[in-house]
Amino acid sequence: MVKKNACIFISGAGSNLNNLILRSRDYTFPINIKLVISNNSRAKGLNYAKKNLIPYKIINTHSRDFEHKLLKDLKRYNISIICLAGYMRILSKNFIKKFKGKILNIHPSLLPKYKGLNTHQRVLNNKEKYSGCTVHFVNARLDSGKIILQKKVKISKKDTEISLAKKILVQEHKLYPKAILKVFNL
Ligand code: GAR
Repeated sequence: MVKKNACIFISGAGSNLNNLILRSRDYTFPINIKLVISNNSRAKGLNYAKKNLIPYKIINTHSRDFEHKLLKDLKRYNISIICLAGYMRILSKNFIKKFKGKILNIHPSLLPKYKGLNTHQRVLNNKEKYSGCTVHFVNARLDSGKIILQKKVKISKKDTEISLAKKILVQEHKLYPKAILKVFNL
């Protein structure tokens, strides 16, 4: 199999990044992770890039020319698929256009419900019976692109924001690789 070069964008803990690194070691998994991008220099997830000798870059999304530099790096590593994995910034319309249909995101809710931030707390406040996670293509509107796969998770009465996030994260680690396989028709 000829694998595609992938770049993973993170902002925090990076458990989805680590999971995708592990999966991509399998020769039947269609991507090789060639670059990690973080908007946060203190993101714990960067340690997974370091440990696995994957090049990484910190971007300063407040600087004017960051996107220009970022596009250059993506070109240098011949990146053809981008996976957002806990990346907490919004990408510009121009950037999304350049990678149309090639950017995936994972969101911890059953989209189209609960787009945006503080998902778990809002779900609990509304006394929902189910939540879950969604992998979708990224378009110009927040958490609104075409859904690739979704997994439902039952909420128990005892769940807190932390326990629900943990429960959903376990499912995210199964769902993201599955969604990537689906995108490649595998
Ligand atoms: C994950 O739950 C992911 O779905 C969520 O952030 C967490 C990152 O965890 N993403 C968003 O909320 C995007 N709006 P990780 O850093 O351990 O992969």
